[in-house]
Amino acid sequence: MKILVVGGGGKEHAIVWKLSQSRFVEKVYCAPGNAGIARLAENVNIADTDIRNLASFVEKNGVDFTVVGPEAPLSEGIVDYFNDRKLNIFGPTRKAALIESSKIFAKDFMKEFRIPTASFVSFDRAEDAIHFLEHHSLPLVIKADGLASGKGATIADTLEEAKDAVRRAMIERAWGEAGRRIIIEEFLPGHEVSLLAFTDGKTVLPMVTSTEYKRVSDGGHGPNTGGMGTIAPNPNVDKKTVDRIVEEVLKPTVDGLRYRGSPFKGVLYAGIMIRENDFKVLEFNCRFGDPETQAVLPLLESDLMEIMLHIHHDRLEEAEIKWKENIFSVCVIMASGGYPKRYKKGFQIKGLDKINDNQTVVFHAGTTRVGEKIVTDGGRVLAITSWDKNLKAARDRAYRAVEKISWEKEYHRKDIGIGFI
Ligand SMILES: Nc1ncnc2c1ncn2[C@@H]1O[C@H](COP(=O)(O)OP(=O)(O)O)[C@@H](O)[C@H]1O
Ligand SMILES: [Mg+2]
Repeated sequence: MKILVVGGGGKEHAIVWKLSQSRFVEKVYCAPGNAGIARLAENVNIADTDIRNLASFVEKNGVDFTVVGPEAPLSEGIVDYFNDRKLNIFGPTRKAALIESSKIFAKDFMKEFRIPTASFVSFDRAEDAIHFLEHHSLPLVIKADGLASGKGATIADTLEEAKDAVRRAMIERAWGEAGRRIIIEEFLPGHEVSLLAFTDGKTVLPMVTSTEYKRVSDGGHGPNTGGMGTIAPNPNVDKKTVDRIVEEVLKPTVDGLRYRGSPFKGVLYAGIMIRENDFKVLEFNCRFGDPETQAVLPLLESDLMEIMLHIHHDRLEEAEIKWKENIFSVCVIMASGGYPKRYKKGFQIKGLDKINDNQTVVFHAGTTRVGEKIVTDGGRVLAITSWDKNLKAARDRAYRAVEKISWEKEYHRKDIGIGFI
């Protein structure tokens, strides 16, 4: 089969890497891809939201199956459009993707289907939100309703921070239309875990758990980022808890969406806050997460394309999914100095050729090729993933690789994995 992967970040590199090992896959295209993806796939210079041109490319080149990485094209209806043109595609429709693309939709949905989540109120007028804040105690969490590239949530400890978050979203429109409406929700203490699952709209098969390091600095300090590293599986989350998350969160979500007439097919991601024996949903994503995917997919024994085909044909219940047993992975993000604020791009990356370890993969996130050189092209540049018999060994392996790679003003956290070993 000829496959097109839509996207060009670290998780798309991991998807391309795993798909290119499939016995069903002969050729992979990736739009727009990056310098690392180019070693496994043919990059195609079409933006991930240019849905019409992606469809035309698929028709012209006889692509059999398209896999969508990012949330933007999904929320803009790439799956509906491809379905109309009778093109095979993996991912949820625009309506099913609302579970990620509108936090108000997701919260109302969870309320209706009794899925545990933080209590919340939604607002479409800044004055009302500010009035609410003035009459409730903090901390509270303020979130833009729409897609904000992971920047739309603020945990406010003071009234000033809380009001600022409301103004930024609703008045300054820092995230455009995404901030036209907001939610204010209860602050949940606890430990975060992500649980991704494959689903064909009926059957739900969970992946291994993972936990992301969100803040920019060691020890969990500094502003939130798109993710500075991940571990998988999370050794503190036992099987019983995973089973409960499947039964109490993922299955009711998939059932509820089907019941509402918009069945969800693809990868459903639940961000969960666990506290003692209880847990609540922080949010859903309608796709693979980043950088969870870079740590999770190397642990998948089964053929990813085969799973996707089972989903495509509504036969996931027949699929058997195997994970590497007693193997853990650690993913360390190497970023541009200054990220998540201002940073410079275009620095040559050195040392990539020094990595030859069959339990380490260097996934590229923000890279591009300039002549013979591979240069930095984004905030998060590389995702170095290693796996081994325990988290400590995986962590040591990943950092050994990190030490061999360098560029001007490179930055990474030094504590990925710590806290779990
Ligand atoms: N109710 C909450 N209580 C505590 N922390 C939260 C809460 N909601 C979100 N967070 C924190 O903020 C992060 C981002 O929020 P999330 O809902 O995942 O939005 P997004 O990923 O779209 O920015 C979460 O990963 C979590 O660390
Ligand atoms: Mg999130």
